[in-house]
Amino acid sequence: MSSIGENGADFLVVANRLPVDLERLPDGTQRWKHSPGGLVTALEPFLRTHSGAWVGWPGIADAEVDAFEEDGLQLHPVALSATEVADYYEGFSNGTLWPLYHDVVAPPAFHRRWWNAYVRVNQRFADVTAKVAAQGATVWVQDYQLQLVPAMLRELRPDLRIGFFLHIPFPPVELFMQLPWRTEIIRGLLGADLVGFHRPGGAQNFLWLARRLVGLEPSRGAVGVRTRPGVVQVGDRTVRVGAFPISIDSAGLDALARDKDVQKHAKQIREDLGNPKKILLGVDRLDYTKGIDVRLRALYELLADGRVDPTEVTMVQLATPSRERVEHYKQMRSEIEQAVGRINGEFSTVGHPVVHYLHQSVNRRELTAFMSAADVMVVTPVRDGMNLVCKEYVATRYDLGGALVLSEFAGAAAELTSAFLVNPHDLDGVKNALDAALTLDPAEGRRRMRALRRQVLTHDVDRWARSFLDALGTQTTI
Ligand code: ADP
Ligand code: G6P
Repeated sequence: MSSIGENGADFLVVANRLPVDLERLPDGTQRWKHSPGGLVTALEPFLRTHSGAWVGWPGIADAEVDAFEEDGLQLHPVALSATEVADYYEGFSNGTLWPLYHDVVAPPAFHRRWWNAYVRVNQRFADVTAKVAAQGATVWVQDYQLQLVPAMLRELRPDLRIGFFLHIPFPPVELFMQLPWRTEIIRGLLGADLVGFHRPGGAQNFLWLARRLVGLEPSRGAVGVRTRPGVVQVGDRTVRVGAFPISIDSAGLDALARDKDVQKHAKQIREDLGNPKKILLGVDRLDYTKGIDVRLRALYELLADGRVDPTEVTMVQLATPSRERVEHYKQMRSEIEQAVGRINGEFSTVGHPVVHYLHQSVNRRELTAFMSAADVMVVTPVRDGMNLVCKEYVATRYDLGGALVLSEFAGAAAELTSAFLVNPHDLDGVKNALDAALTLDPAEGRRRMRALRRQVLTHDVDRWARSFLDALGTQTTI
């Protein structure tokens, strides 16, 4: 990694996290590792193939790091103090907005101190970006942690072209209206030239709120058009609003899955698990929105009902540690660990646990091997903006093997209609879908997987980014 020169960047991504995370080791040294979550998974491959800059937090408190270049990408760290991590990141972002935007599946907390920190930190992101962006640059602001940045940045740098994309669901208006700072958030987003959501419903909710809270009129006929963004007129400025369903580097993952060593590793995983007839797999950040509890409950009941034989079926749950100091997350972790313990206590035999639970992050190759080995991928969020894991699974199954059980409440369900779609609140429905996936006729499985792959391989992250940047009107410059 080398330091960068004084020239401003023409294309910048601004996200709460950098694509790499600083880690302090017990011996006092530091190292960078890959950042968690779907935002980085999706954007990093695109950014690495286009010269650009990334403004973001290095992932730990009080890290004063100079800008540097890594593999052609300029990284501009934004420092956060320990109090700001607690109030802006764990507090307002993940204790207020995250649960509110995910259908209040956990109660959001509203604290003025958290909000003040959110405003302050958003201003810092805008200040850093204003300093490093070249004249007339394109700036792409990401996600719920930075919703005030578009307006703050426009104030500082009216020459910039500003896009905003929300990676999580945008909530129904009745829920959004609970937020004491609802008008400020909508005004912040309206600073962008283009505001993007995963689903047309999110765009519609935003347009309704813009009219109601800021008194603007969405232009006639544009609302709800799937592929054409809607439009809001803000004085003499036009803000476009639309749905852009995100995706993955499908071809890259397909190629990785075909790699001989990855296939060997997949075989090894199967052997290490004792060659069970069927392997169920879950891969998530350890988050209460992901419905890990739902799938464990369904598996428990299937075992208790005698519909699943514990000597034939094994489940692997990979769970990346996430937001570990936020209360809801602490509570959920212990509930999930209890549920795993209960299944293993009642149904395992010595040396053959039914559920293998790894509270760890694995690398890309290993993850691909797990997905190649899995007969059934279980994705059961109670609410998810998109969910990339299910698309990753489909991309790895070039052999047309495997089956996908997918929640209707993941954004991806609108595209992956050949999956076994389930309502995660309907336990019997989840049990039946798991049962059907475990006993799937191979020809029917191939038919479903072929249809899923057609969708995922033709709608990759490059297409997503290009359609967003096209709508922003800057395609030719990047
Ligand atoms: P979110 O962004 O909410 O975490 P997504 O499903 O959209 O959910 O993206 C999660 C990303 O993190 C995917 O790329 C997935 O492969 C990766 N991931 C999740 N859990 C793990 C894990 N235990 N080890 C490695 N990668 C993981
Ligand atoms: C989701 C969010 C991202 C976030 C990621 C990981 O994908 O949409 O903005 O970066 O989760 O969460 P974390 O809190 O660790 O950044």
